[in-house]
Amino acid sequence: MTHPTIEEGAPPASPVEAVALLLHGGREKSHEPTTPNQLTVRRMRPFARSIEAERRDHGLAVWILRYRVRGWNGDEMSTLPDARWALDEVRARHGDVPVVLVGHSLGGRTALRVAGDASVRAVAALAACARRAMIVCSCTMITDGHIEDALVEILNKPNAPIPTPGVVYRHLKKRMNCCGCAPLAVETIYNKVEELERKGLICPDVCATARSKLLEFSSARTRLRPSAAKSAAPAADTNGHGLKVA
Ligand code: FES
Repeated sequence: MTHPTIEEGAPPASPVEAVALLLHGGREKSHEPTTPNQLTVRRMRPFARSIEAERRDHGLAVWILRYRVRGWNGDEMSTLPDARWALDEVRARHGDVPVVLVGHSLGGRTALRVAGDASVRAVAALAACARRAMIVCSCTMITDGHIEDALVEILNKPNAPIPTPGVVYRHLKKRMNCCGCAPLAVETIYNKVEELERKGLICPDVCATARSKLLEFSSARTRLRPSAAKSAAPAADTNGHGLKVA
């Protein structure tokens, strides 16, 4: 199969106001095409029917995405472009309606990786194999994977800005709401910059500058908000870099 496909259930009685997008499981490695009869695909149909039975007349469309291939395939992350395609399809067909992602196993991992999309309002990741996904911001569903992807793009620009949480969130087209994630966001960004340098994805000079500027940024915020500094102190101690988070 060269294209992902969407299985649409029975349409809602009223115009579509939201979409539940179901993402099936798969394998760690496989370029075998998916088919409608594979267990991982069939497993999602009872979920779809059950959501349809409960939606009453609220304009909820229920879609099952079928990926092109069965596997995640390491750095290829084969299911991600398919999930992004499905989100574009929602917008093309129904405009900016909210989307809820329901992913099982590999589908859960995929859901968490695309949860930063502007249309996504909630994620249910069932038995997710989500080794690489940690939700950093629960208001906007930004994960450490989104932050990593954004940092690669931001820090490879000429005259790269300091990757503060504000810069990273804006790059992801998100806005902080409660700001409760700020300490974790700073710490995640700092650690990801180091990791990306180790992987050779960002120039070491840019990484060194970004890390020292992040420390300055963090210290400045700490001075401005002494109560936050006090509560953040244990986290600063635990990351082993003397990073104060604020
Ligand atoms: S948890 Fe990130 S803005 Fe609320």
